Amino acid sequence: MLADKKIVFSGVQPSGNLTIGNYLGAIKNFSRFSEDFKTFYCVVDLHAITVRQVPAELRRRTYETLALYMACGLDEKKNTLFVQSHVPAHAELGWILDCYTMFGELSRMTQFKDKSAKNAQNINAGLFTYPSLMAADILLYQTDLVPVGIDQKQHLELARDVAMRFNQVYGDTFTVPEGYISTDTMKIMSLAEPLSKMSKSDSNQNAVVYILDSKDDVLRKFKKAVTDSEACVRYSEDKPGVSNLMTIYRAFTGKTFEEIEREFDGKGYGDFKMAVGEACADGLAPVRDEFARLMADKAHLETVMKAGADEAAYYARKTMSKVRRKIGFVN
Ligand code: TRP
Repeated sequence: MLADKKIVFSGVQPSGNLTIGNYLGAIKNFSRFSEDFKTFYCVVDLHAITVRQVPAELRRRTYETLALYMACGLDEKKNTLFVQSHVPAHAELGWILDCYTMFGELSRMTQFKDKSAKNAQNINAGLFTYPSLMAADILLYQTDLVPVGIDQKQHLELARDVAMRFNQVYGDTFTVPEGYISTDTMKIMSLAEPLSKMSKSDSNQNAVVYILDSKDDVLRKFKKAVTDSEACVRYSEDKPGVSNLMTIYRAFTGKTFEEIEREFDGKGYGDFKMAVGEACADGLAPVRDEFARLMADKAHLETVMKAGADEAAYYARKTMSKVRRKIGFVN
């Protein structure tokens, strides 16, 4: 008998524009998992409505997020790509897990505290129970591995606790997932303040390079990037600006730091920044082209979503019938 592949699940918010930090640090690696794992990548629109959304924008971003992930290399034939609200079992298991998640646990979530401070006029119950819905996303597929950013570590731990608690009461029901936390394997810093991480919500638009930026924008942003006064391309902790540019250049060209230092030996930062901008723009061009092509064909995106949801629902159904039986719901 063929051994079943282990399961990878990750959720992505249908929000905003993704940065080259998201691209190099996470998305580019997502496609690697499909070789060895059964992979589910889900656009989490149910999570998105925990903060107010403009309906037309939410709908557009849902298409865009799917298209962007596909453009970054997630092949819909090798990965199950779908939209959370298309598989109602997420909401259903979310409710059930709410009943196995403690008020105190949810109160300790730092993301809840941050978000409720920022949205003081809309601290809704969904924002509070967000982590049990996330646990449902993960546990529904008997997930083994969850690639997420370090900011999701606490939520992931909660998902593990809830899984173990449920298993304790009812016997083995859920696989207890492991996190695959990408910490600083590929940490891209702000171009304006190279000591802080490049963030998609930075108000200084010159600090952030988005995957879908035009070539002109990319070149302009790198031209303005903060460096230092030494005028020497060298990787060093006390040269955060230059080191960050070298990291980006290395990621897009495959050159080593030594090769880069040699290449720009005796040259000024102007040449260096121009080269980094060119390499980045060239690296992003195929992604941007593919994104445009995908967005021009909504019908195809809908076919992908539909096939993904059907596949996901098949796996979800298996878990749900087990859960219903264990809890004592009448079949
Ligand atoms: N909360 C995650 C984030 O904001 C998104 C998410 C929702 C997720 N469900 C998930 C990530 C399940 C991993 C697994 O980034």
